[in-house]
Amino acid sequence: MIIISQLNWLCFLMPVMSFFDLISLRHSVRAFKEQKISDEVVEKILTAATKASSAGNLQSYQIFVITKKEDKKRLAVAAHEQNFIENASVVFVFCADPVTSAGEYGKRGEDLYCIQDATIACTYAQLAAHSLGFSSIWVGSFIEEQVARILNLPSGIRAIAMLVVGIPAEKPQITTRRPLSEIIHTL
Ligand SMILES: Cc1cc2nc3c(=O)[nH]c(=O)nc-3n(C[C@H](O)[C@H](O)[C@H](O)COP(=O)(O)O)c2cc1C
Repeated sequence: MIIISQLNWLCFLMPVMSFFDLISLRHSVRAFKEQKISDEVVEKILTAATKASSAGNLQSYQIFVITKKEDKKRLAVAAHEQNFIENASVVFVFCADPVTSAGEYGKRGEDLYCIQDATIACTYAQLAAHSLGFSSIWVGSFIEEQVARILNLPSGIRAIAMLVVGIPAEKPQITTRRPLSEIIHTL
């Protein structure tokens, strides 16, 4: 049996997938094996997140990394009992930092850019996790105040997304997408 530290090494040896294959093959997973992933993998995912574009390059977000079982359990409760969170290897909580963005961009920075910055960073992290051979789920349904308390967030910092990453314990059906004709408007 391959132990998890070997699995992490195997990820680095895997052939590089094209970007278009990566985004086509990525899918959400809502059941995880209780296994750790290495600090190197976590750091790679975080570094990828910081490569994302951000308004004025301010990176007006903060990322919290949660690996302790009891903390993941509390996050699962805050996410309306989405209990699969507890078994994941790591939860990244992406938070918007409105004050940093407002300093440069005023109300638009406070209301919009910091949310966009954090969202794009989370997207990069999700794709990075998949590129490294791990599965994930983006969790947006949670009680913000409860998450702020669990993470002891500084005032003004707002949790906007949890990226739950781990080793899949299910093979879900691939989701479909609306046809381009329903969403594209070419002028
Ligand atoms: C903003 C946002 C919030 C989401 N919140 C949740 C959530 O709370 N729980 C959940 O199970 N999935 C959540 N998802 C995952 C979506 O349901 C999933 O991405 C979508 O059904 C498409 O499936 P796919 O990721 O497999 O392509 C969320 C996704 C996004 C982008």
